[in-house]
Amino acid sequence: MTEKLLEVKDLRVQFPTGDGIVKAVDGVSFSLDAGERLGVVGESGSGKSVTFLALMGLLDRKAANVTGQILFRGQDLLKLRPDEFRRIRGSEIGMVFQDPMSSLHPLYKVGKQIAEAIQAHEDVTAKDAFTRAIDMLDRVGIPRPEDRAKQYPHEFSGGMRQRAMIAMGLCLSPDLLIADEPTTALDVTVQAQILDLIDRMRDEFQTAVIMITHDLGVVAEHTDRVQVMYAGKIVEAGTIDHIYHGAHHPYTWGLMQSISRLDEEQERLKPIKGAPPSLIFVPSGCSFHPRCPYVMDVCKTEVPPLEEEEYGHASACHLTLEEKKRIFASQVEVRT
Ligand SMILES: Nc1ncnc2c1ncn2[C@@H]1O[C@H](COP(=O)(O)OP(=O)(O)OP(=O)(O)O)[C@@H](O)[C@H]1O
Ligand SMILES: [Mg+2]
Repeated sequence: MTEKLLEVKDLRVQFPTGDGIVKAVDGVSFSLDAGERLGVVGESGSGKSVTFLALMGLLDRKAANVTGQILFRGQDLLKLRPDEFRRIRGSEIGMVFQDPMSSLHPLYKVGKQIAEAIQAHEDVTAKDAFTRAIDMLDRVGIPRPEDRAKQYPHEFSGGMRQRAMIAMGLCLSPDLLIADEPTTALDVTVQAQILDLIDRMRDEFQTAVIMITHDLGVVAEHTDRVQVMYAGKIVEAGTIDHIYHGAHHPYTWGLMQSISRLDEEQERLKPIKGAPPSLIFVPSGCSFHPRCPYVMDVCKTEVPPLEEEEYGHASACHLTLEEKKRIFASQVEVRT
C-alpha cells in the first residue's frame, strides 16, 4: 500500500473569545493521495479556510487551539516548530489565496520575490533563482516574463497577479497546492484560464490540489473528489460522480439547489432556508437539523457520524441509505 500524502485525523480548531469558544473546525478527518484533486465546498463560515490555515501552520497559536493530527507523508505537522513548518510551507506545500496581495509583497518586484522564495529553500545563486522565476512566470502564461519580473505587483492586472501568485505557489514544485477561492475575484475568462493553468501544473508536477470554493461548477470540472463542510464538520464526501449524481446529505442537496451551475437556469435557484448556526452555540445532535426539511427526532439529540455507505462515499445523516437515494431521485425528477 502506498503511503498517503496527507492524512488529517480528528482536527479541531477552537478560538476562545469573549462570547464563548468558537468551534470553527470540529473533528475533521480526511486523506489525500499524491496527485489527487480534492474540492472543498460549504457555505460561508463553515470552517473551510480555518481547516487549511491550520494545515499550513498559519493560525496564530495564541488565538487558536488546534488539536488532532495532520500527517504529511507520515509526519505530524502539528508537532513541528514554526521554523520547521516554514520550511515545509512553500517547498512542499504551496498555496494560492483569493487575494494575491496577501502573498505578494507590494514593495518588492515580482521576479525578485519568487527568486527569494526559491533561494530561501534551495541552495542556488541569486542569478539562477531569478532565471527560474522568469521561467515560472513564463509557464503560468505571463507574456514578456523578463520585463514583467522587474515590475511591482501593482503594475500587474488582477489576473496577472493571480498568475504570479500561482508561479510563487508552484516555484518549488510542491507536492500539495492549497488554493482557497483562487479565482473568486476574477472574471469568468480569466478564472477559466487560471483553473486550466492549475490543472496543467498538476499534470506536469504531479501536484495534489485542494481547491476550496463556493462554485460547484469549478469543483465538477477541476477536482476528482469533493468534501462538503457544514458548521466545522465534513457532512458528505465522495467522488464527483457520487456528489453530482447521487448526493446523500440534505445539506448537499440544498447547496446544489442554491448555487448556480452552468447547466441550470438562474430562476430555479432556491436558497437553503435559515442561516448557518453560531459556532459557539452549535445546535444539539446534527447541527443542520434546524434547517433540514427531513428532520427526525433522532437528529435533534444524536450527532450522526460520517460513515462510508458506499465505496468512497460517506455522509453524516440519520436517514437510511434507501431514503437518501429515493429523495435524491425525486429531486432530480423535479429539476428535469
Ligand atoms: N481568529 C478567529 N477568532 C474567532 N473566530 C474565528 C477566527 N477565525 C475564524 N473564525 C471563525 O471560524 C469560522 C470558520 O471560518 P472560515 O474562515 O474557516 O469559514 P469559511 O468556510 O472559509 O467561509 P468563507 O466561505 O466565507 O471563506 C467562522 O465562524 C469564523 O468567524
Ligand atoms: Mg474561507
